Amino acid sequence: MPASPSPSPSPSSSPARPPVPAADLTKPDPRWQIRIRGLNKTFGPQHVLRGLDLDIERGKINIIIGGSGQGKSVLMKHLMGLLKPDSGNIYVDGLDIVPLADVEMAKLRRKFGMVFQYAALFDSQNVVENIAFPLIERYKLSRDEIMARVRELLKRLDLDHVDGIEQKFPAELSGGQRKRVGLARALIDRPEILLYDEPTTGLDPVATKNVDEMILRTSHDFGVTSVVISHDMASTFRIGDRVSMLYEGKILVTGPAQDVLRAPDAPVREFVEMAGLTVPPLGVSA
Ligand SMILES: Nc1ncnc2c1ncn2[C@@H]1O[C@H](COP(=O)(O)OP(=O)(O)OP(=O)(O)O)[C@@H](O)[C@H]1O
Ligand SMILES: [Mg+2]
Repeated sequence: MPASPSPSPSPSSSPARPPVPAADLTKPDPRWQIRIRGLNKTFGPQHVLRGLDLDIERGKINIIIGGSGQGKSVLMKHLMGLLKPDSGNIYVDGLDIVPLADVEMAKLRRKFGMVFQYAALFDSQNVVENIAFPLIERYKLSRDEIMARVRELLKRLDLDHVDGIEQKFPAELSGGQRKRVGLARALIDRPEILLYDEPTTGLDPVATKNVDEMILRTSHDFGVTSVVISHDMASTFRIGDRVSMLYEGKILVTGPAQDVLRAPDAPVREFVEMAGLTVPPLGVSA
């Protein structure tokens, strides 16, 4: 994993961000794997993303927080090219993915794994078929090679203890198990970047903690860059290296987790207080 070349800055609002020369955005950067600039997305009259800027740090857990309907899932889908913006750029290792044609985008997508908000497993396929799907779709690997990769992941994600797990269908799994199968499918093609959309929503506190640990372990063991959308402030605090808050179509604050959660901006304070966390803003003694 590359070392961070400079110390972490204080949390910053988008307008205060020092502009990066355009030429530098088109070169791979040792620290920032994804750099988003001026992203706009409308659906009919609804202006969801409004000139959004965001940098995603390589090898770290980057968390995006924000209220329901603010555009978090829409942003995530842009990162993998599942949605195209009206305007703006998304540089992945210096390559702007916005103008890519379908064939090039499909190639680029192999860098990514995505864990969808509602696991998005195929109901009529068993656990092995669900996890192996990306390999079957893309390569001509032997059945033995595929099974070896599937079993390695089942083990890494603590699913190998579940009796008959390989043959089970999604409806026969608990919510937490489904999330882990979804993660195994996202990992099977060994991605560099993992996107998680609300990995803990709807889970009880124990399952939430398990999923958090799984994200941490995956980040450390596989050295991937993680982008996690989360409502859950306790999780965010536990696992986040960097946190960015999406608010009214832009990133309101971004920076190291400990600093962002202490930012004085009212929407951040509201989010932190609603979660029942006691994180006083900077400059206010507890
Ligand atoms: N394909 C689409 N067509 C039209 N509108 C859409 C589409 N996808 C998202 N939207 C709208 O964009 C807005 C942002 O949606 P998004 O799913 O990104 O919210 P979110 O921040 O992920 O919310 P939640 O926390 O509830 O998941 C919503 O108002 C939604 O209705
Ligand atoms: Mg969402």
